[in-house]
Amino acid sequence: MIFVTGGAGFIGANFVLDWLQEHDEPVVNIDKLTYAGNLESLATLKGDSRHTFAHADIGDTVLIPELLAKYQPRAIINFAAESHVDRSIHSPEDFIQTNVVGTFNLLESVRAYWGKLDEQEKADFRFLHVSTDEVYGSLAKDEPAFTELHQYEPNSPYSASKAASDHLVRSYHHTYGLPVLTTNCSNNYGPYHFPEKLIPLMIVNALAGKSLPIYGDGQQIRDWLYVKDHCSAIRRVVEAGTLGETYNVGGWNEKPNIEIVHTVCALLDELRPRDDKKSYTEQITFVTDRLGHDRRYAIDARKIERELGWKPAETFDTGIRKTVQWYLDNQEWVANVQSGSYRDWVETNYAGRS
Ligand code: NAD
Ligand code: TYD
Repeated sequence: MIFVTGGAGFIGANFVLDWLQEHDEPVVNIDKLTYAGNLESLATLKGDSRHTFAHADIGDTVLIPELLAKYQPRAIINFAAESHVDRSIHSPEDFIQTNVVGTFNLLESVRAYWGKLDEQEKADFRFLHVSTDEVYGSLAKDEPAFTELHQYEPNSPYSASKAASDHLVRSYHHTYGLPVLTTNCSNNYGPYHFPEKLIPLMIVNALAGKSLPIYGDGQQIRDWLYVKDHCSAIRRVVEAGTLGETYNVGGWNEKPNIEIVHTVCALLDELRPRDDKKSYTEQITFVTDRLGHDRRYAIDARKIERELGWKPAETFDTGIRKTVQWYLDNQEWVANVQSGSYRDWVETNYAGRS
């Protein structure tokens, strides 16, 4: 069996669903259920004995060792993190607690557990740390995409905390021989994405008749990957990755934010036209930029393709169409995640922007 941490969040939930579609190997899903954790995303697994949920913090130095001793996993996939750059600008402390201290405590719990396994189990064990391209910093327009050898230059409290966790993971391999793997992925999109991030926020706001807030000039570039492709990459790295190595994961889909929002609007115009038949682009507004906003991310995904034979299955066109359709078909999920604390966050992040 495997442990997945953060498996009630966006990518973690997609990963658990995907894993259990591909295997019968059971999953223990460990999640603290912060504002970003939502068990409704796992509703289709109700009654499925292959999925066990454990409500716990990765930094809990009592509960995590107990869970490890009880379930004896052969692998851990660590998704648990604070993940939203804007929140890291408003409240960086949570990011240090979970992404740095939490990852450290998790590594310590895992090191103690792993140290007691027999030699074969030790060799077969895997700790895969899920990280981001944001640790590499920002690229100028004409610079080549990030390879695994690119210098770490994190610019936000979020990316700095993820960079710190990547370094800790690396050190546990180098120092203790813990069998670790790290993936650094570009921006994901797809089902169950919390509507504080660009794509789901734009879909949800558009349908609610609200403004579509573009930070700055909207020319910042992100490299987009459909979430299921990220899941297949992680499965492949767990299966065949070289210990201690890092793998960049991306779909060669660089797009400026303004283009993303226009694409979302065009799909909504087609699939759910406004009552007045005007385009959803009418709702676009340019607002005050994010502090320290990284201009461009781009992933060079040649290593994972060359060494592990992984390639994404979706193009941006197919993935974004599926995503918009999913939000149209799952309005109840959207309504249920828009709690009071969600509304407070929207007020905190957007009210002060002109
Ligand atoms: P998310 O914010 O949607 O989910 C994070 C999950 O972790 C939530 O379920 C939350 O409850 C849980 N969690 C938070 N703190 C915890 C703690 N201390 N203990 C246990 N659980 C805790 O994030 P996501 O977008 O699904 O991202 C998952 C991982 O992938 C993160 O590590 C993130 O850095 C990385 N990543 C995300 C993207 C992206 O585009 N979303 C891209 C590359 C890498
Ligand atoms: P986001 O989805 O928060 O991901 P990240 O910051 O990790 O890349 O944002 C993606 C891009 O969209 C980023 O350049 C910021 C921009 N953005 C907006 O223009 N408006 C918004 O309301 C949000 C949430 C993001």
